[in-house]
Amino acid sequence: MAERRDVVIIGAGAAGLMCAIEAGKRGRRVLVLDHARAPGEKIRISGGGRCNFTNIHAGPKNFLSANPHFCKSALARYTPRDFLDLVERHRIAWHEKTLGQLFCDNSAKDIIAMLLAEMKAAGAELRLSTSISAVEHDGSSFRIVTENGTVEAASLVMASGGKSIPKMGATGFAYRIAEQFGLPQVETRAGLVPLTLDPATLAAHEGLPGVAVDVIARHGKTEFSEAALFTHRGLSGPAILQISSYWREGEEIALHIRPDVDFAAVLAAARRENGRQAVQTVLSDHMPKKLAQLVVTELGIDGPLAEQPARRTDALVQKLKDWRFRPPGSEGYRTAEVTLGGVDTAALDSRSMAAKAVPGLYFIGEAVDVTGWLGGYNFQWAWASGHAAGQDA
Ligand code: FDA
Repeated sequence: MAERRDVVIIGAGAAGLMCAIEAGKRGRRVLVLDHARAPGEKIRISGGGRCNFTNIHAGPKNFLSANPHFCKSALARYTPRDFLDLVERHRIAWHEKTLGQLFCDNSAKDIIAMLLAEMKAAGAELRLSTSISAVEHDGSSFRIVTENGTVEAASLVMASGGKSIPKMGATGFAYRIAEQFGLPQVETRAGLVPLTLDPATLAAHEGLPGVAVDVIARHGKTEFSEAALFTHRGLSGPAILQISSYWREGEEIALHIRPDVDFAAVLAAARRENGRQAVQTVLSDHMPKKLAQLVVTELGIDGPLAEQPARRTDALVQKLKDWRFRPPGSEGYRTAEVTLGGVDTAALDSRSMAAKAVPGLYFIGEAVDVTGWLGGYNFQWAWASGHAAGQDA
């Protein structure tokens, strides 16, 4: 005999837990299944262990999707303020770090404990260490076959996330279920991910790994003003992670180094005051020494500033404004914070996250083709889409 529930949610991550809370509050008999040994593992490691749980400025413009309008309804009905109210009701201390990013003062575990307490209060049940072997549908209800027995439910919510960080249990299972039910998908790729550089460039960057500098990272018309970090494999740091979601293999990105500094004016003033100093010495007042050295070496600049022809310092200023890189690849799902693409929003109802063609089937969180910027946006999407499905399932 199969167990019966009203709603089965596969995935005890941010989206699944929120959905369980909302569905439970409506009196639905909810069971959350997860193959992991602990719930909310990505919440636990997020934000360096402090969980950047939302962004107070989160709005549709902060999300990538084949249909940029799709996320509007869910985001409007469950806002960053709604989540913050929940955090404050549980007396979790928080702070704004930068750019509207809200973090726990103490630990991301506070957020997991809060969600589990809310879930328990709503009467929803959590079953961990449970692998799902098959999902069947007879037209009216779903049969979720697990290694420990079968559960039947009128509604099935897929909240199993994307493909990022397989080591943490990411499986892409939601995409397989979407395929089984004939739902269209947008091609998936790694997002918010460090970019790699070719061996020759890396060799030229010797000594740079670990160096960070404020930049504007650009790809086409998209730009982000944050820090970039040189690494042993290529480029990382918030500005690079942000732009990586817009970049595709083979394309260029450009960095404007220290956009707050007018290097033409800096070099002109230095030439007047002390033309005998080396160009990299002047640059070093505004960027890490090793970076200053690399830039002058790449342009073949040697000797004192006073001896440099104007065309060379002009080229230097231009390079600092528009330093081009053509990364051959990214570090991929191994380190990506999110998966771009996923279940095509055209197949889903934007108010409820329900599959239009399969009554009772829902997709939420990262599994859906809605991906946020770095900075608390992805959790806000998980809360908002989980809330939307929880109101309907
Ligand atoms: P999530 O991946 O959280 O949960 C999916 C659940 O499904 C997991 O518990 C998994 O075990 C389970 N599952 C998967 N396959 C299964 C299967 N076959 N059977 C059963 N269960 C299965 N975002 C943000 O806004 N602020 C931040 O600070 C960070 N920081 C951050 C750091 C790092 C290192 C990463 C990798 C990611 C972030 N993110 C983030 C992104 C954020 O973690 C992500 O967008 C959300 O966790 C997505 O929530 P979901 O609930 O959709 O999936």
